[in-house]
Amino acid sequence: MAAPWSPESWRSKPIVQVPDYPEPAALADVEQKLATFPPLVFAGEARELRRSLAEVADGRGFLLQGGDCAESFLEHGADNIRDFFRVFLQMAVVLTYAGGSPVVKVGRIAGQFAKPRSSSIEKQGDVELPSYRGDIVNGSEFTPEARIPDPHRQLQAYRQSAATLNLIRAFASGGYADLERVHQWNLGFVKDSPQGHRYQELADRISETLRFMRACGITSENTPQLRATRFYTSHEALLLGYEQALTRLDSTSGDYYATSGHMLWIGDRTRQPDHAHIEFARGVKNPIGLKCGPSIDADGLLRLIDALDPKNEAGRLTLICRFGADKVGSHLPKLVRAVARAGRKVVWSCDPMHGNTISAVTGYKTRPFDRILKEVEAFFDVHRAEGTHAGGIHVEMTGQNVTECTGGATAISETQLSDRYHTHCDPRLNADQSLELAFLVAERLKRDRVDAPPMAASASA
Ligand code: TRP
Ligand code: MN
Repeated sequence: MAAPWSPESWRSKPIVQVPDYPEPAALADVEQKLATFPPLVFAGEARELRRSLAEVADGRGFLLQGGDCAESFLEHGADNIRDFFRVFLQMAVVLTYAGGSPVVKVGRIAGQFAKPRSSSIEKQGDVELPSYRGDIVNGSEFTPEARIPDPHRQLQAYRQSAATLNLIRAFASGGYADLERVHQWNLGFVKDSPQGHRYQELADRISETLRFMRACGITSENTPQLRATRFYTSHEALLLGYEQALTRLDSTSGDYYATSGHMLWIGDRTRQPDHAHIEFARGVKNPIGLKCGPSIDADGLLRLIDALDPKNEAGRLTLICRFGADKVGSHLPKLVRAVARAGRKVVWSCDPMHGNTISAVTGYKTRPFDRILKEVEAFFDVHRAEGTHAGGIHVEMTGQNVTECTGGATAISETQLSDRYHTHCDPRLNADQSLELAFLVAERLKRDRVDAPPMAASASA
C-alpha cells in the first residue's frame, strides 16, 4: 500500500529548487488567498485530456505540446497569445493530416512561469545575487531588489494565467480555429518560405480534401468539428506552494486535481523518487509528464512510473525524452524496452530542445535547428525499430519572428542571433522554424504510416 497522500504531504519531504522567501508569513498569506480563488481548469477537462492521451498511448493519436520556455509578465499582450496560437494550430493541422489521426493539443502556456536553475546564485563581475527563478518568483533584472522572491507575484501569475486561458478558450471555440482558415495560413507559409515548395504537395492534398468535404456539404458553418478545436494547458509543477493552493477535491470523482492547468510535468532536476515534487504529483489525478534526461536509467524510470501511475492507466503518464541529438540512440532503446517489458502504458514524447542547447561564439545560448531535427528523427527511428509508438513532440516555440535558434529554412546564423533575441530563458523556435518542424515531422509520420507493416503496433502490446 502506498503511504497516505494529501495536498500538503510534499511538505515533509526533501525538496530542491525552492525559492528562499524572506517573509514566510507573507507567503502563507498569499497561498491562503490563492486557495480561495476559482480553479483555472475543471477536473472534467483534465479527465478528457487523459482519455485523449490514452488514445495516443495506444498508438491512435499524436501529442503536440509547445509554447514558451517561460511566460513573462511584461509580454502579456493579446498579439503574443494570438500569434502563438495561430502557429500552434497550423502545426496541428499538418500533423493531423499526415498522421491520419487526432492531434492532442497542449500548450506550455497559461501557467508556465517557474524555472528550475542550475545554480541558486548568479554572478556578474564581483556581484553575486540569487538566480532568477521565473516571473512567478522574482524579477530577471540583475539588481538585489528584483531578485528577492516576492510571494505577491503568485497572484499576478494566477491572474495572467486566467486571462490567457480565457482568450485561448475564445479563440479555440469562437471561430479563430476554423480548419479552412488555419489551412489558408499554411498556404501562405508554403508560398513565402524559402523551402516552402517542399511542402506544396502536402498542402495541396489538404486543400483538395477540404474542397471535397465542402462539395459533400461538410463545412465549418454546419460542422462544429471543423470550426472549433480543443486546447489544453500545461506547465512544470515546480512551485509546489502555488500548486497546492490550486489543488481541489473534485466532487464528481472524489479525487484531487491540480486546477492550475490541465497537465503538469515534473522536471529532470526535481524527479528524485523520495522528494517533494514526485510526492505532490502522485496524488493529483491530472495527466502527468515526466522529463527524462540522460541521467535516468531503466530501473529508476520504472520506479518513478510505479510511484506516479500505480494503476497503469493509459493517458496518465507522458514520458518527455530530452537526451540531446547524439544521445538518443544510446539511451532511449533501453528505456523503451524496459517500459514495454513491464507492460506499462505510457505516451512517449520527444523534447528535442533541452538536450541541444549550446553557446554561440557570440555568447548567446542557442539551439541549432538541424540538431533539433536530428533528435526528432532519432526518436522516431528508435520507436520504429522497437515497434512502439512515437507519440508526440514537446517544443519551446513562439509565434514571433525571433532569432534565438540557428538554422532553419531562413538560415539564421550565429551572428544574427542578436537581431531579435527576446527570450527570458531558453531559445525558442520562431514561427517559421516551428512550422518547418511540423512539416518535417508530418512527412515522417506519413512515411511511417505508409510503410508500417499491418498490426505493427499490437506486436508489442
Ligand atoms: N476539431 C478538429 C481537431 O481539433 C479539427 C480542427 C478544427 C482542427 N480546427 C483545427 C485541427 C485547427 C487542427 C487545427 O482536430
Ligand atoms: Mn526551457
